[in-house]
Amino acid sequence: MHRRLLVPGVLATGLMLAIPASAADYTPGAPSIGDSYYPAAGNGGYDVSHYDLRLKYQPKTDLLEGTATILATTTQDLSRFNLDFALKVSEVRVNGKKAKFKKTGEQELQITPAAGLPKDTPVTVVVRYADKPSTVKVNDWTSWVRTPDGAVAAQEPESAAWWYPSNDHPLDKATYDISVSVPEGSQAISNGTLQSTSSKLGWTRYSWRSSKPQATYLTTLAVGKFDVTTDTTASGLPVVNAYSKDLGENGGAARASIERSGEAVEFLETVFGPYPFNALGGYVPNVTSGFALETQTRPFYSPKQFAKGANVSVVVHELAHQWYGDSVSLGDWADIWLNEGFASYAQWLWSEHEGEGTAQELADYIYDSYPADDPFWTVKPGNPGADKQFDGAVYDRGALTLQALRNEIGDKAFFEILKGWPTERAHGNARIPEFVAYAEKVSGKDLGSFFDTWLFQPQKPAGATAKAAGLAARAEAPAKAPKSWKKIADTHDIHDHGDAHTDGRRH
Ligand code: TRP
Ligand code: ZN
Repeated sequence: MHRRLLVPGVLATGLMLAIPASAADYTPGAPSIGDSYYPAAGNGGYDVSHYDLRLKYQPKTDLLEGTATILATTTQDLSRFNLDFALKVSEVRVNGKKAKFKKTGEQELQITPAAGLPKDTPVTVVVRYADKPSTVKVNDWTSWVRTPDGAVAAQEPESAAWWYPSNDHPLDKATYDISVSVPEGSQAISNGTLQSTSSKLGWTRYSWRSSKPQATYLTTLAVGKFDVTTDTTASGLPVVNAYSKDLGENGGAARASIERSGEAVEFLETVFGPYPFNALGGYVPNVTSGFALETQTRPFYSPKQFAKGANVSVVVHELAHQWYGDSVSLGDWADIWLNEGFASYAQWLWSEHEGEGTAQELADYIYDSYPADDPFWTVKPGNPGADKQFDGAVYDRGALTLQALRNEIGDKAFFEILKGWPTERAHGNARIPEFVAYAEKVSGKDLGSFFDTWLFQPQKPAGATAKAAGLAARAEAPAKAPKSWKKIADTHDIHDHGDAHTDGRRH
């Protein structure tokens, strides 16, 4: 009845526009961002722009207490949405109002706001939590590593879920303010610039800011007792390095490597263009693992990286990632070659720069080292699969591919690409086919079959194909290892012997 009275013509249309879409039009955000290797990673329905993490950590008990404030924009009419998180949550608010929440799946925090969230509107999510991260297992695994005097979060492809709720995939990069209160005498090391420190009642608060888009796995936290060095590079970048006080015999070699970060960046700028961030440094916590990780502006290094002496090559590798991986981030974990191929090739260029073997000599060495029937050639750098994502071949054949490209298109186009790509795509995401298209544009050559051969075929490129790319088997006199090879190999011995995760992933 009433309806009929209200309906007539034009008036009804006007009213319809004013009435918000019914609840039925609001749908849940996807529990996945759609990654081809890690379906649980990331979520749909919103886009994060900023994380504000206010934390307190007690090394004695491993208790981490936090309030995460997340600024996002909806990308659909949302009835509910997920964050990726593994710790115990006590309260969630959306736009100031209490929201319902529950844990689903392995590490999903499902949040249902009091009312639907319309598309394209800003949303503020506050999550309060407290837990002992080292005891929280997902697939029998924790990314949170205890040290004798603290803890560290630095893992790939994921570590965020053990210390803050997020949209945990490189596709959704954001800026960060990370403020951590730790017992006096301990420090909290994170990304970017140290904005302030303050002490009160036996606790010291360290407030860090990372002001350029940053992927979740590149966001790091270390709590412990560190010797901190600060400096400014010739071009004015603030440098902060941190060395655990208990590095023992490795302390000297760690410093002799990482204190050369400014020099390494200066070299890398000549090949990749301007450094993409406004801070620099590295840190070495007292962990037992062997790997390094390109955490944004402040790479993580395991003490073992320096057990055989200084290794500037690994520093060059992690700093090269600041362009290839951190500023230009992969769009899907299948694109790992865009990170590791280029960071490894940077080590080859550094070797050339140091007079310890040219990139061609390193390429010849890799090419000759593995006969055609070696399993090395079965790994496709352009799509290695989740279980082989960090296989040595992704690094070595990945770099070899770049030397082959250099031979195929000549130095001029090649170096124009190495510099142009991170400039053009700075602070974004990219996929391998986009890189191929860019290389074709710059070189003016059709490179489809070239990249298919070098990145996507599970076999050794041989014969005329290899010859055309400047590589050919020297059966009678295989290439000898260039001087730099040992240090380069030490970088990825570590990749090869990292603890394998029970689901086949390497962490
Ligand atoms: N991306 C790291 C590097 O190239 C290596 C790496 C692979 C890694 N998997 C990891 C580091 C897991 C830490 C955890 O230097
Ligand atoms: Zn790497």
